[in-house]
Amino acid sequence: MQAFYIRNFNIIIIIIINLISMGEVDQAFIQSIEHRPNLDTIEIEGIPLIDLSLSHTTDINVLVSKIGTACKNWGFFQVINHGVPLELLEKIKVAAKAFFDQTMEEKRKVKRDEVNPMGYYESEHTKNVRDWKEVFDFLIKDPSFLPASPELEDDEMRTLSNQWPENPPQFREVCQEYAREVEKLGYKLLELISLSLGLPSNRFNGYFEDQLSRMRLNHYPPCPCPELALGVGRHKDAGALTIVAQDDVGGLQVKRKSDGVWAPVKPTSNALVINVGDIVQVWSNEAYESVEHRVVVNSERERFSIPIFIFPSHYVMVKPLEELVNEGNPPKYKPYNFGKFNVARNRSNYKKLEVQNIQISDFKII
Ligand code: OGA
Ligand code: NI
Repeated sequence: MQAFYIRNFNIIIIIIINLISMGEVDQAFIQSIEHRPNLDTIEIEGIPLIDLSLSHTTDINVLVSKIGTACKNWGFFQVINHGVPLELLEKIKVAAKAFFDQTMEEKRKVKRDEVNPMGYYESEHTKNVRDWKEVFDFLIKDPSFLPASPELEDDEMRTLSNQWPENPPQFREVCQEYAREVEKLGYKLLELISLSLGLPSNRFNGYFEDQLSRMRLNHYPPCPCPELALGVGRHKDAGALTIVAQDDVGGLQVKRKSDGVWAPVKPTSNALVINVGDIVQVWSNEAYESVEHRVVVNSERERFSIPIFIFPSHYVMVKPLEELVNEGNPPKYKPYNFGKFNVARNRSNYKKLEVQNIQISDFKII
């Protein structure tokens, strides 16, 4: 009986704390009850850690099979000995902090708008709830070309280009140098993924000639109500592959395929986090799935993360690869134009929309 009272008392206290913090923060950040994070620390099996170094004693087939298993079971893994110089990994984290530490006035000099989606932004929404973060985005290929509208019959194109801040000094150089190195890793991983699907290593190469890949610096400030808001709400990445550098704070969680539990991605020194995106899901006809993930925040420490999203050229028609489909395994998706998809998807990042934004499930053959 006493235990019953203590438990109810605890629940009442939590409700009161929630109500107090709800009054403090903008309602736009508050997740609906079913999407609020459980902040208890849990020790559970996490995503695989894969060593990419190939000595003459390790067989490439062993590595390919580890990658294939991780893609199949998790959609996520971490890599070490990835070839991205560790000094550069350190430098990009320092550059990210130096950029976000500046005044709002300074950051807003490179603010993105309805016309130019590159630059600084502090009010992105995921699934119509505002994320507790600020970001800086730039294109790997500058300029890049994208359809002007999501309408299929409209063939007008738009040129996207980067906005670079004057400060901090060296920011641009460090960002670009880091992006070049991670891009190389991205293509190496796509080759390994291709091999793991039983395809030639260069099978995906042709899709990236006019790549729309972009890099993002994420800053998650400490949050007064980490039990109500999220750094990034649950989502799947729309590209082919994402490569994320994170600091030692932690917060990224992956929805474990085996049981749907949110599994934390443990910060691992010198490692990069890799996840397959929607395009690999479609190309592989669902042999590999793009897995839902989110970022929880905390009330004490700010967090930085740096993803690179590897996107194909705008004119690529994304569809299950012919070699992987047959009578017994018919294509699960209708082809879609990546540029049009991307334009339609990004509309909802700016403001709340009445309808859910475009998803690959819209192209699913039932
Ligand atoms: C993203 C994302 C993860 C992180 O920006 O799409 O999932 O750790 N970020 O910041
Ligand atoms: Ni993501």
